[in-house]
Amino acid sequence: MKKIYLTIVILFTGISLLTFLNGCATSQAMTDKSGAQLWGENCVRCHNTPSPADYSDGQWEAIGMHMRLRTQTLSPDEMNKIVAFLQSGN
Ligand code: HEC
Repeated sequence: MKKIYLTIVILFTGISLLTFLNGCATSQAMTDKSGAQLWGENCVRCHNTPSPADYSDGQWEAIGMHMRLRTQTLSPDEMNKIVAFLQSGN
């Protein structure tokens, strides 16, 4: 009886650990991307990619916050990279 319990605990721990490590791997892959890359992959989903020259630095800052809420998937870090990329091109 005790053996079965132990097996379950070991299995559960293994699965949790795998899920955890896998989660890290995915977010690592995401943060490795450059602002330009993230911009190209995310900002065309709903509309044409706006050109960096279309807005001022301050406007990009506000648009970044606005569009991060729209995308639902970008982390603040990723959005900062996109905003920095857009600001460097105007
Ligand atoms: C989930 C859909 C979606 C994604 C993804 C998205 N946008 Fe938008 N975007 C919208 C909508 C809808 C509008 C129209 C304004 C509104 O109602 O929010 C908009 C408007 C804009 C505007 C016009 C100015 C403004 O704030 O209204 C800019 C610039 C813009 N988006 C840039 C971006 C950038 C840069 C990204 C990538 C980080 C992005 N968008 C990703 C949906 C999206």
